[in-house]
Amino acid sequence: MTTRHLCDLADLPDGGARGLLREGFEDRLCVVRQGQEVFVWLNDCPHEHRPMEYRQDQFLSADGGHIVCFAHSAHFDIRSGHCFAGPCTGQHLVRVPCEVRDGAVWIPAELPTIFD
Ligand code: FES
Repeated sequence: MTTRHLCDLADLPDGGARGLLREGFEDRLCVVRQGQEVFVWLNDCPHEHRPMEYRQDQFLSADGGHIVCFAHSAHFDIRSGHCFAGPCTGQHLVRVPCEVRDGAVWIPAELPTIFD
């Protein structure tokens, strides 16, 4: 699989999130860091296929415990992408596989496509 460099681990706030791969006014990815682990999701809420943040890089609940789509308050588990509350309960975010290597985050050259 061909990979590409997404960012350095140090570019991500530990316990926080960033939007990356900006296209126009939208970041295509929601990237969450927890220590040495990184979780990358398409920035696409399964409810109405909108970006999830309320302003740039603001993807997480106030306590940083989960991802929130601020359009209609869908709540997602950071690790599984599972929606456990809100209008799309039971659905999932689309995972982008990633690897943390030598202090950098790598993702596939081709992003997964949105299903649903
Ligand atoms: S678009 Fe995300 S909860 Fe409605």
